Amino acid sequence: MKPRVLVVSSANMDMVQRMKRIPSPGETVLENSHAPAYNPGGKGANSAVAFARMGVDTVFCARVGKDQNGARLRAVYEKEGIDTRFLVADPARATGFASILVEDDGANRIIVYPGANLALSSDDVEEALTCLPDAVYLQFEVPDEPVFAATRFAAEKHIPVFIDAGPAREDFPLEELGEVEIFSPNETETYLFTGIRPNNKDNCLRACIRLASRVKAKFIVLKLGSRGSYVYDGKFFHIIPCVDMPVVDTTAAGDVFTAALVSQYVAGEGIVDAARFATYAAAISVSRAGAYPSIPTFAETAALIRERDV
Ligand code: ATP
Ligand code: RIB
Repeated sequence: MKPRVLVVSSANMDMVQRMKRIPSPGETVLENSHAPAYNPGGKGANSAVAFARMGVDTVFCARVGKDQNGARLRAVYEKEGIDTRFLVADPARATGFASILVEDDGANRIIVYPGANLALSSDDVEEALTCLPDAVYLQFEVPDEPVFAATRFAAEKHIPVFIDAGPAREDFPLEELGEVEIFSPNETETYLFTGIRPNNKDNCLRACIRLASRVKAKFIVLKLGSRGSYVYDGKFFHIIPCVDMPVVDTTAAGDVFTAALVSQYVAGEGIVDAARFATYAAAISVSRAGAYPSIPTFAETAALIRERDV
């Protein structure tokens, strides 16, 4: 039977504008190389789609507005086979919206208007846990209260908790998360949580030790962009280089990486093999434009692994 993962997180509509370079303050540039694109996005929704495409039984607990964007997003999730019973249409707030600027080298800058994501509540989470998941998957693009409620409810029911630690803020009380199976921040998040830039092997280890003193995590997996990832189990570490792919847009690479990692781990893979698989999934994601459109399936990821003869 497929493992069931409950994703408790955010949903946004993304507006993506590609450009040769970011304008300076006060400058207007005309950019007609690409038309702006509207794509489903949001860290939680990207992860939920990634889980579904990886063959996981996926339940999504989030809030959208009772508006056109909310209806469009719900239809997309349902088409992906995601269980949307616990996706609430909030009558008082608009669907979350992200403005994303992507430069020619694939680097992105993202501003999120959270909208309905800010109304996600502990009650929403408590109700969603009635789906009896095998794992609970969290990110920080929603208020702290439902995140902590999810960790408490999961602990009471002995359900493992997985955390993709973005977006981060310095004063986030990591110590209150309780036991976590995998905790996975990117470079910026690692720096905000530890004050250490994971820019070389020694600093990765120092950052992991600092994180391990704050979060009771079985595994810490640092996402290091084009430098790959760093897996730490409290004693040993493994460095997993990224897969060489033409970079189009890195948006959602981190969402895809961690969801693919967890999809393999809950299916019984070891942490290093799961991270290797996730590295291929993330490489496919960076080679495609947008968040939702870039998310690969299990079959696409397996085909790339075969092609590169691993
Ligand atoms: P985002 O916020 O853009 O979704 P992130 O900052 O959370 O991403 P990254 O560390 O940038 O996460 O990327 C996640 C994973 O994607 C990396 O660990 C790596 O395996 C893969 N990756 C990132 N950049 C590249 C690249 N240029 N080429 C190939 N793989 C990449
Ligand atoms: O991680 C990428 C996502 O961050 C985008 O889809 C955007 O909506 C923001 O949440």
